[in-house]
Amino acid sequence: MRRLNVALADRSYPILIGRGLLAKAELVREHLRVPRIALITNVTVAPLYRASLEHALAASGVEVTTIILPDGEAYKTWESLNLIFDSLLLARCDRATTIVALGGGVIGDLAGFAAASYQRGVAFIQIPTTLLSQVDSSVGGKTGINHPRGKNMVGAFWQPKLVLADTDTLQTLPLRELSAGMAEVIKYGLIRDLPFLEWLEANMEGLMGRDGELLAQAVERSCANKAEVVAADEFETAKEGGRALLNLGHTFGHAIETGMGYGQWLHGEAVGAGMVMAAELSRRLGWIAQADVDRIVSLLKRAGIPVRGPKLGAERYLELMSHDKKVIAGSLRLVLLKGIANAVTSAATPREEIAAAIDACCDA
Ligand code: NAD
Ligand code: GLY
Repeated sequence: MRRLNVALADRSYPILIGRGLLAKAELVREHLRVPRIALITNVTVAPLYRASLEHALAASGVEVTTIILPDGEAYKTWESLNLIFDSLLLARCDRATTIVALGGGVIGDLAGFAAASYQRGVAFIQIPTTLLSQVDSSVGGKTGINHPRGKNMVGAFWQPKLVLADTDTLQTLPLRELSAGMAEVIKYGLIRDLPFLEWLEANMEGLMGRDGELLAQAVERSCANKAEVVAADEFETAKEGGRALLNLGHTFGHAIETGMGYGQWLHGEAVGAGMVMAAELSRRLGWIAQADVDRIVSLLKRAGIPVRGPKLGAERYLELMSHDKKVIAGSLRLVLLKGIANAVTSAATPREEIAAAIDACCDA
């Protein structure tokens, strides 16, 4: 088992990564205030992993209330949140109950927001089961739901007490979801970790072939990068750089997700196409070379990630992007590249340049 730490003073927590961890209930048990949890999952994950986790927890004396939600990005809503609150109240869950998320980023974001707000906040544990959630969404405490006008527009920062990533669960993940998660893995290489990017270039076929050891290494290195960035700028308040850099490709990507309708493009797919737009814009600004853009596109393609965005029209992209959470006082801050593995935040990009980069990266 690999162990990392997210260093946030008295709210620090471990990330445990390894095979067969779902069966090791003691890893969860030791983080509970009382032996009572509300397990939040969905209709797809429950048949795969609910029983083994529940049995292990019951055997170690933990009382479990299980809440099963519909599956999909389209359900990351107030309605699902209310379903969770109804079930928690019905089961008389109190402030000492720990909420446990078992699933991908949608379940993690929903369950985390429920934990942040139920009875003004209860403890929370993440058990991520997709590549994307193991390398990104389960770490760092961003929780929330979507609004029809924008992704993740309502939410809270609420750090978990533990992240338990059982890499065996990646074996049942649909290939399209594996690709989507790989976009966030590649992101860490592009924004700050050149040796990791080179390692990904050397091992992409093995990773996409689900080699367990390679996947565990990728999860560990991604989480190490995320933990470092979050520890330095937990609430994304740094004036330049900081946690915002984790959003390379996301401003474009969120526009794709919202513009196409939640669930049409997977989050990781939209981020992949968005990273190409960010790279193309960086090239137009003279910050990286065409060869760098080609290098990025080539790696994304090998991971099965779409590299061209849908044709929404640049004006529609810009309208959707104007709702981004990185807009401050009307000015859009974009994450761009001043070289491979050297991401920066930039608030002064001319609108025409952004539009031209979008047009160049969209399907005709
Ligand atoms: P997801 O949660 O929708 O999961 C993808 C699909 O895989 C779903 O159908 C799910 O039921 C299924 N699934 C989950 N585990 C499985 C398994 N082991 N085997 C088979 N099927 C399985 O999507 P995701 O990519 O995990 O997460 C995307 C969400 O995460 C988006 O809402 C995005 O906004 C959010 N996100 C949040 C953060 C954050 O910091 N909080 C960061 C990145 C992304
Ligand atoms: N996924 C971006 C962040 O956690 O900040």
